[in-house]
Formats: sequence, structure tokens, C-alpha cells
Amino acid sequence: MNINDFLPKAYTHTLIDDSVSYEAPSNIALIKYWGKHGEQLPKNPSISFTLSNCKTTTTLSFEALEEELDEGYDFEVFLDGEPEPGFEPKIEQFFNRINKYIPFLRQYRFKIETSNSFPHSSGIASSASGMSALSLCLMQMENLMQPNMSIEHFNEKASFLARLGSGSACRSVNGPLVVWGSHESIEGSSDLYGINYPYKINEVFNDYKDTILLVDKGEKQVSSTVGHNLMNNHPYAVGRFEQAFEQILNIIPILENGNLDAFIHLVEREALTLHAMMMTSSPYFILMKPNTLQIIEKIWNFRRETEIPVCFTLDAGANVHVLYPESHEQRVLDFIKNELVAYCQNGHYICDSVGSGARKL
Ligand code: PMV
Repeated sequence: MNINDFLPKAYTHTLIDDSVSYEAPSNIALIKYWGKHGEQLPKNPSISFTLSNCKTTTTLSFEALEEELDEGYDFEVFLDGEPEPGFEPKIEQFFNRINKYIPFLRQYRFKIETSNSFPHSSGIASSASGMSALSLCLMQMENLMQPNMSIEHFNEKASFLARLGSGSACRSVNGPLVVWGSHESIEGSSDLYGINYPYKINEVFNDYKDTILLVDKGEKQVSSTVGHNLMNNHPYAVGRFEQAFEQILNIIPILENGNLDAFIHLVEREALTLHAMMMTSSPYFILMKPNTLQIIEKIWNFRRETEIPVCFTLDAGANVHVLYPESHEQRVLDFIKNELVAYCQNGHYICDSVGSGARKL
């Protein structure tokens, strides 16, 4: 697929008014995307687990306008039933980026009603699940106007659009493992959209668990756009991008043979590398909190003492994602309750596991 394949063909059906709904999950990267160029294109390929419980549900209602708008868009956004004008600038920017691929945006009045399964102030970014859900709703509209569209095209274009809203959102359409970014060893991979990981996945990764420890629920100190841009003049950027390409090669046999020692080494190294990039940019910043480090230390001790293959990964924030196979769920949850909850803000954490992607409602 190249970019022109996402320009729409002539529509065969006209829509007057209706609504469409989708739920889309969040995702957690094992190999991280940090650094972009052009229009939301990644500097390196990444791979993520699609989650299951952390998700956004969006209903897009539309009503044809009498006349197409010359500029701007006619939309309002509601979060949990309340108007949320704070989301408008990001959606307007998104619409500007996708207008040439979804040319009917100026022909309708839209109402976007959205809600997240996780608390807004959890420090979990809703942009991945939110942009994915909205993109899927728009694709559903396009599909109604062009009913002979294939499922492959539907999903690829939904991911392509989601990427233009928030890079990692393109990994929130499919599941359980999604690759975004072109890599010569991953057939079908593309910088333009995420694809389902195309090779063998060991059964140990079926229903892998992710318990998200909410260490700091505050607003992000640094937006991800600013963070990605800091990779542009970063002294270690070239080495980092090369490493990520290598890590994709390294993870292929691990995902097949289920070697959890190697998996843990790769995943934790990726998380710490992401934060090392932030700590060594100019300006530099630290997104981990003291409790993030306490938790990491406790996980390492627990793993050493019990030999249970539990590890952590981090997003661009202080929260810790604790990853482990389902077979160890009870022991790990006991450990979390007894030893880690004390480091979570108000004792809060979210139990999630690997999921299979977005769903039409
Ligand atoms: O999708 P963005 O632009 O918010 O970037 C997210 C980047 C990380 O979450 C830090 C890593 C990743 O690959 O998801």
C-alpha cells in the first residue's frame, strides 16, 4: 500500500443522518516508538501488545449540512456525556490532516460522544484508544458510502487515519501484537499503518497480563510531540534508532519460542532506553518518580527470589506496566497487593491483559 491508496474512490451511496459506534483499546509498546518525521512517520519500527480493558468507546453522530463548509469543521465533543471543548483543538488538527483522505468531513455536522473505561486522570493516555475509535467511526461512515470495501482496506485505512491523530494510535486497531514501522524482516510492515504481527506467537503470550500501577495521575509534564521532536537533535538518536531495528529482529525468535528471560531483558531494556533518551535530550527531563524506581526494584527482587517471569515496561510517564504470563496471575497479584500498591497514588492500579483489537458496537 502506498499513500495514494488511501485517497477515496468515488462514493456510491449518500448518507443523510445516522450514528456509528466503535470501541478501541489502548496498547503498550514492547519496542518503543520515540522520534518521528514528516507527517507522523516513525523513525523506527515498534511493536505493542493490544490491551483489552483499557479502552475508549466513541459514538459519532452525523447530519448532512445543506452546503459543504469552505473551511473549518462543524463538530462538538462530549466526554462522559458532558461537553469537552478541551478536546477540540486536537480533533481539529486531526481533521485537517485527514481531510484529503476523508473528503466528506466538511459536508456533515458531527457529534462525537466518547468515554474511557479508565479514569481520565489516571495518567493513561487516551489518545491512542480515542484516535483509533474515532478513525474507525469515520471509516464506518466511509464504508457505508462505499460498501464494496475489503476488511483489509478498512482496517489499514483506519490505522492509517489513527496514526495521523496520534502515532501510537495506529497500533490500537488490531491485536494481539501489532507492528508499526517498516522493517525488512517483517513482511507487510509499513510506516503508514500498523499490521498484525505476521509470524508465530508462542502460547505463553496468549492472554499475557498487564497490571498498570498508577504512580502519578497528573498531567504529562512533556507532551509526546515535544518529546518526539527532541530526538531530532539528540546525540544518541542514530544509535537508538539502529538499536530499535535490531530489537525487532531480536524479538521475532523470542515471540516464537517463548523464551521469557530473553523477553524480559528486551522489554525492560526498551523501557529504560526510552527514558534514557528523555533524560539525555536538551532540554532533559525525568518522567519517572521515586515510586517508579521503588516498584522496579521490588519487581527485580521478587523475580530473583521467586523466579516468576514478571517484568515491567514504561510509557512516557511514571506509571509502571507489570507484564506476566496468565499462569502466574495469582502469585503476581498477591505480590502487587502486598508490596506494590503502597507506591501507587491512592493505591490505584488497573488489571488488563492482551486483547484482540477494536470492535464495532
Ligand atoms: O503516540 P504518541 O505520539 O503519543 O507517542 C507515544 C510514544 C510512547 O508511548 C512513549 C512509546 C510507544 O511506542 O507507544
